[in-house]
Amino acid sequence: IPLAGVIGNPIGHSRSPLMHKHWLRRYDLRGDYVPLHVAEGDLERVVRTLPRMGFVGANVTLPHKTAVLQIADHQSDRATLIGAANTLTFRDDGSIFADNTDGYGFMSNVRQGAPNWDPKSGPALVLGAGGAARAIIVALADAGVPQILLANRTRAKAEALKADFGQRIRIVDWVQVGSVVEDAAIVINTTSLGMTGQPALRIPLDGLQSGTVVTDIVYSPLQTPLLQMAVAMGCVTVDGLGMLLHQGVPGFERWFGKRPEVDDALRAAVL
Ligand code: ATR
Repeated sequence: IPLAGVIGNPIGHSRSPLMHKHWLRRYDLRGDYVPLHVAEGDLERVVRTLPRMGFVGANVTLPHKTAVLQIADHQSDRATLIGAANTLTFRDDGSIFADNTDGYGFMSNVRQGAPNWDPKSGPALVLGAGGAARAIIVALADAGVPQILLANRTRAKAEALKADFGQRIRIVDWVQVGSVVEDAAIVINTTSLGMTGQPALRIPLDGLQSGTVVTDIVYSPLQTPLLQMAVAMGCVTVDGLGMLLHQGVPGFERWFGKRPEVDDALRAAVL
């Protein structure tokens, strides 16, 4: 029976097994999906061994998303550009293909949750400059967003992203964010702020236009303080759970041969 799994450290919190098992049941497919707790020093040996154990592919999460690129035999252009992979496919010839579907997951989630958002309609304000921001910035640029306003507490990390991804990015000082929210057609939190146990994201949102799309990659809680404020201001909000769900779609389709749907039944299964 075809197996897939998610490789991480820690891994107990991952919702990916719930998601893929839901799809396997729903489409009545043979297969299973398991959490794989793998220490840094063991990553290469484990990844090389999985195909010999009946695995057809794997998702990769922290802290392995960058290291796994070096292990793969082939990588997609997106994975190369982002510098990280989250989806491995083990090919029949024994080779390992690494892809990054985080940007795809982000865009699909926003398109589903805010169908009237036109990427070309105006600037995107991206808060944070970590790994998640890299994938999202690449996806926004691909979709034709005219300008990316990028703000990060540590400005140097935003500058590094600009150096990698170019002219379309304009760096905004973290403490000046309030002054650019009114220019944004979409506001995206890619920081961990707002997550259960973390401080809330405190930026002045008074300038936000109603109708602006506001989305958060944090999904625990689903309604982050940022999204709550945005709802109160009449914005269109998209929660972060959908990004996780949509990023799993391409892998599932490649491994199990069926393109799965992201719908309320899936959301209920992973919550
Ligand atoms: P991920 O891969 O999920 O993006 P990451 O690479 O650790 O995770 O990035 C975390 C992001 O959250 C960074 O942009 C980080 O800002 P710094 O680069 O300044 O560290 C941001 N972040 C985390 N805690 C923060 C806080 N208390 N205030 C502001 N930004 C914070």
